[in-house]
Amino acid sequence: MRKQIAAANWKMNLTMEQGIELVENILSENIQLKDDQEVIFAIPFPYLLAVKDPIKTSRNYFIAAQNCYFQKSGAYTGEVSAEMLSSVGANYVIIGHSERREYFNENHQMLSAKINLCLENNLKPIFCCGEPLSIREANEQNSFVENQLKESLFHLSAEHLKGFVIAYEPIWAIGTGKTASSAQAQEMHAHIRNVMANKYNSEVADSISILYGGSVKANNAAEIFGEKDVDGGLVGGAALNAAEFITIIKSLK
Ligand code: 13P
Repeated sequence: MRKQIAAANWKMNLTMEQGIELVENILSENIQLKDDQEVIFAIPFPYLLAVKDPIKTSRNYFIAAQNCYFQKSGAYTGEVSAEMLSSVGANYVIIGHSERREYFNENHQMLSAKINLCLENNLKPIFCCGEPLSIREANEQNSFVENQLKESLFHLSAEHLKGFVIAYEPIWAIGTGKTASSAQAQEMHAHIRNVMANKYNSEVADSISILYGGSVKANNAAEIFGEKDVDGGLVGGAALNAAEFITIIKSLK
């Protein structure tokens, strides 16, 4: 069974105190996750250790960084390497979020280099893909997303891709309050799985968790996660509120 995941992406929000309080409020709900369910907090670098502590006794709760650098080490002032993240006990790293692609000019080559460094350091990438509005309006989203997968993932072996995590985040749905309909999400998730099955095989494709991201809220999570190929969500704004995120976790299949 592939994993069903509720991942919170805090982006550049919350002080450490607010972040710890949020995590403690969520944990106090005592949600018993099933074996195949996970909750991931993708948090700012300076809080990784602080949030690792409260989750350590909760089964299937993990921490993620929101980015890492595409070089192994060296004179890159201000950057954080995959090896550093691994050394502080991060479990996952978000790679290729559309905000990083757009505001920090991250290209396919950088993203594939980051993924390699994550894998070398025992970190699990959460690879983000998704089209801007203009591409959706031209009905070219399938080939656009396929190209993102091809450019950053197709160099990997089938072994590396078993149990991999991909997040489909249509840019027009991020932070806009406009979600993809559950049918639109299902259609793209099935397409992504099909692309991976064609390149690798159906066993690999069926093992990949494909999360939906873009204005997931407490009131729409169950419907979206209920789709056959939607294996949970990568949640921004609604993950900053304990009650909202608790409902989102409880909406996992
Ligand atoms: P929102 O849930 O705020 O739309 O953000 C989605 C996102 O970008 C998660 O990575």
